[in-house]
Amino acid sequence: MNLPFRILGVHHIGLAPKTPTATQRFFSLLGLSAEVPEAVVSQKVVCTQFHATSTLTSSHSLLEILEPTSEDSPISKFLSERKGGIHHLALEVDDIHAAVAYLRGKQVAFLSETPTSGSHGTQVIFVHPRDAGGLLIELVQQG
Ligand code: CO
Repeated sequence: MNLPFRILGVHHIGLAPKTPTATQRFFSLLGLSAEVPEAVVSQKVVCTQFHATSTLTSSHSLLEILEPTSEDSPISKFLSERKGGIHHLALEVDDIHAAVAYLRGKQVAFLSETPTSGSHGTQVIFVHPRDAGGLLIELVQQG
């Protein structure tokens, strides 16, 4: 298909564990290294991204541990409704604005008007779960 953007792969999987320190310990036991934790103000979370490979030799996905920084964070709501789990799947796109315009034209809704700042200089936007079978899908463009 000739689309005005390309999906480059799975950028990260967003995880909302009940006990983030236990998940971080487990990932460390696997030999996975973490980036410095970063506050993402727009999402009211602190996120700690682990590289999902021990080799760091090729492009690879990240495992993003999300911790709420306030009671009205989307992650607080998520954790109050279940025991923790996989929160979202982030797909990398080469042109997030083109992707949003194209998908809006196909009646796909988003949780914000425009992309916002994600972690590590990325631009991100979330698709409304209603339009993705109840899943939360994030589109990410590298800065
Ligand atoms: Co994310």
